Amino acid sequence: MRTPIIAGNWKMHKTVNEAVQYIETIQSNQLPQDVEAVICAPFLTLHTLQDKLAGSSIGLGAQNAHWEKEGAYTGEVSVHMLQDLGVGYVILGHSERRTYFAETCEQVNKKTIAALNAGIIPIVCVGETIQERESGRTFEVVSSQVKKALKGIASNELHKVVLAYEPVWAIGTGRASSANDAEEVIAYIRKTLMSEFGTAVAEQIRIQYGGSVKPENIATYMAEPNIDGALVGGAALDPESFSGLVKAAS
Ligand code: G3P
Repeated sequence: MRTPIIAGNWKMHKTVNEAVQYIETIQSNQLPQDVEAVICAPFLTLHTLQDKLAGSSIGLGAQNAHWEKEGAYTGEVSVHMLQDLGVGYVILGHSERRTYFAETCEQVNKKTIAALNAGIIPIVCVGETIQERESGRTFEVVSSQVKKALKGIASNELHKVVLAYEPVWAIGTGRASSANDAEEVIAYIRKTLMSEFGTAVAEQIRIQYGGSVKPENIATYMAEPNIDGALVGGAALDPESFSGLVKAAS
């Protein structure tokens, strides 16, 4: 049985004070214990939130990290620095990073390996653009992104990876993929994992859906056999809405 995982990706939202208020609200909402709830917050809020969440079952994640331990990389934050803070998760290869910051599959691979080496759970995002979908290339694009991201990862580490299937056209558009369509792609990703890494690992890796997930539609995704949770942007910005998403996944 794979534990469902609901992660909120705040993207570039929330000051430290706003972040603290949010966490206090979700902590007072008594989230279910059978769902892994994770908040992926901006770097500047992580130190405060790590203190705030000490002893809590709510996980804390970053939204990017550099694979090198340290060095002349102006503006970057390393996986090692996140590890030092006790951050448990990191989103890698989000389509916004691939699109706006030219992040490549090779870089996503290096970041994923570095995160695992540091004991941080990588949430690796993959997904096709609307042009790729309309030209019938969804399976090819997504399976290639998965294979490249996971290249060279030790077989005893692979099961810790979380994948997030986020079709680019569904992100922040209100045009969510139907649960059936998302399940079809995610089942294909699991099939790819089986042929690359074997059935045991493929059955352990959790795969989320992301793209316009809301409290009103999350149950449809959670009902699908291969969908193990959601990576949520807009609807995770409000603490009541995030709490509703976690409860609905229980
Ligand atoms: O990483 C989550 C994300 O890209 C989906 O965003 O706003 O469509 O839930 P949203």
